[in-house]
Amino acid sequence: MKVFTRFMLSATDEAHFPKPELPEIAFLGRSNVGKSSLINSLVGSKIAKTSSTPGRTRTINFFEIRFPGRPKPDLIFADLPGYGYARVPREMMEEWPKFIEPYLQRRTSLALCIALVDANVPPQKSDAQLLEFLRAQDKNTIVVATKADRVGTRLSASIKALQQELGTHRILPYSSKGKLGSAELWAEIRSATSPV
Ligand code: GTP
Ligand code: MG
Repeated sequence: MKVFTRFMLSATDEAHFPKPELPEIAFLGRSNVGKSSLINSLVGSKIAKTSSTPGRTRTINFFEIRFPGRPKPDLIFADLPGYGYARVPREMMEEWPKFIEPYLQRRTSLALCIALVDANVPPQKSDAQLLEFLRAQDKNTIVVATKADRVGTRLSASIKALQQELGTHRILPYSSKGKLGSAELWAEIRSATSPV
C-alpha cells in the first residue's frame, strides 16, 4: 500500500515521546528479527534503518503515517529496540525493561502491538515472556513470523510450533523481501485503528 511517511523523532526517554494524539502501532521483537525491515516493507520506502548486526535500533523511533487523500496524518508507527539477543544480554536484562516496559504500560495511544518472531528459529523464551507481558497488560497484540521467505517448505510446521509454544492461535507469516503478509497486516492495522 502506498502511504506517506514522515520521521518524527527518536526518543530515549518518555519525556521526548510525541503527544499521544494519533493511534500508535508498536513493533516489538528480538534484535535482528526484522522490525525495521518490516516497517519499510509496509510503507514501501526505507524510513527505518536496518542492519545485519543485531542491536541496530537503540531508541524508540516514531514515524507519522498518512493514507492517500487524507489531509492529516492517520497513525504513528513506533520502531522499538530489540531484546534478548544472545550477544547483547545486558540490554535485555537492564535497559529494555527500564525503557520499553514503561512505554508499553503507559502509552495511552497504543492501539496495536505487532510482536515479531523469527519463522526460522524455534520458539524462544524471550518471545514467550514478551507475549506474556503483553497479555498481562491486556494489550491488543498480533504475532508476525518474519523472514518467511527463508523457511521454504517448512513454513506451516514452523508456524504450528510457534503457535503451540507461544500459546497464540494466530500467527501471520511475513516476508519483508517478498511482501508476503503485507496486505493482511495492513488489514489488521486498519481494523485496530479505525473508529468503530
Ligand atoms: P534491531 O534494530 O537490531 O533490533 O533489529 P531489527 O529487528 O530492526 O532487524 P532489521 O530490520 O534491522 O533486520 C535484521 C536483518 O534481517 C537484516 O539483515 C535484514 O535484511 C534481515 N531481514 C529482515 N527481514 C527479513 C525478511 O523478511 N527476509 C529475509 N530474508 N531477511 C530479512
Ligand atoms: Mg531495528
